[in-house]
Amino acid sequence: MTKNSEYAIEVNNLTKRYKDLSAVDNISFTVERGEVFALLGPNGAGKTTTVEILNTIRKPTSGKVILLGMDVTEKKYDIIPRIGVLPQGFSSFDRITVKETLQYYSRLFCRKKPDIQGLMKLVNLKDKAGVQYKNLSGGLKQRLGIAVALVNDPEIVFLDEPTTGLDPLARRAMWEVLWGLKKKGKTLFLTTHYMEEAEFLADTVAIVKKGKIFAMGSPGDLIESNADYLVVMLKSVDETVFDIVKKMGFSPGYDSHGDITVRLTHADDVRRILNAVRDGGASFTGLNVRKPNLEAVFLKLTDDTFLENFVGVEEAQ
Ligand SMILES: Nc1ncnc2c1ncn2[C@@H]1O[C@H](COP(=O)(O)OP(=O)(O)OP(=O)(O)O)[C@@H](O)[C@H]1O
Ligand SMILES: [Mg+2]
Repeated sequence: MTKNSEYAIEVNNLTKRYKDLSAVDNISFTVERGEVFALLGPNGAGKTTTVEILNTIRKPTSGKVILLGMDVTEKKYDIIPRIGVLPQGFSSFDRITVKETLQYYSRLFCRKKPDIQGLMKLVNLKDKAGVQYKNLSGGLKQRLGIAVALVNDPEIVFLDEPTTGLDPLARRAMWEVLWGLKKKGKTLFLTTHYMEEAEFLADTVAIVKKGKIFAMGSPGDLIESNADYLVVMLKSVDETVFDIVKKMGFSPGYDSHGDITVRLTHADDVRRILNAVRDGGASFTGLNVRKPNLEAVFLKLTDDTFLENFVGVEEAQ
């Protein structure tokens, strides 16, 4: 590929083996410039290994990785100034302040004069400029990690689990920062265990397990093609509702709140169930019909036994 490659990242038949273990097993994908690509997968799936090969830290056993038109194994030192990395479990020096941390990393990685104030503003850490690293909360440490990843104004930013361990508010604050980077045209390559994060941020997600890509596409397409059903939740104290739904040939169950859930493949069945409940003289106090989310797709693809064992979501008869 040439330097003007339309892709930020091209991965062809990438494999990484440790003795008998294929941590990454023959994966291929492309990431366009300005795209947000998320790698999802259970612990040990090979996400960090993949990220670290892409960002030149580890060497592939076989296969080819092209970043910004350059081969990662041949052009490492041309690539490094153009990428930024937030490693899994980012940590920095306890006793130096936010501002000093950014100055320090800028001296290491930055060829141009860094905009430290701009970076602190971007990740909303301006009022913490004089605070030592050890006194920052987990969420603020992660935000500092992102600012460190951005000191060289990179074209591609790799973020390995950027929001793990953060509370829901801090996570959303991080999404804001990442969303801002996306709007600036950066290519983002992230890994996450949070499905809503992938649904919210990613243009494309790849689901990996045991080093292999199981499914890839936009969150919407993955849901459409892997979870072609509706989840209906009925809130009722009336026990006959369960029996009525069961007699119709569906497989209702109870969720953790004690509400009846049933999986339907045809939207029309919602109306049939409501009619049958009414005709049976039963009542319900709440109804919720929703499409399955990315989490359901993830569980289906990464653990085939999960849905079978999960009460209330069996395939409709
Ligand atoms: N240096 C190494 N030597 C041997 N095995 C390794 C090495 N690094 C990773 N592995 C193994 O490769 C597999 C993939 O690990 P990796 O860290 O890429 O997973 P991950 O998807 O990032 O997991 P997590 O979600 O827990 O971060 C695991 O089985 C891991 O034990
Ligand atoms: Mg990892």
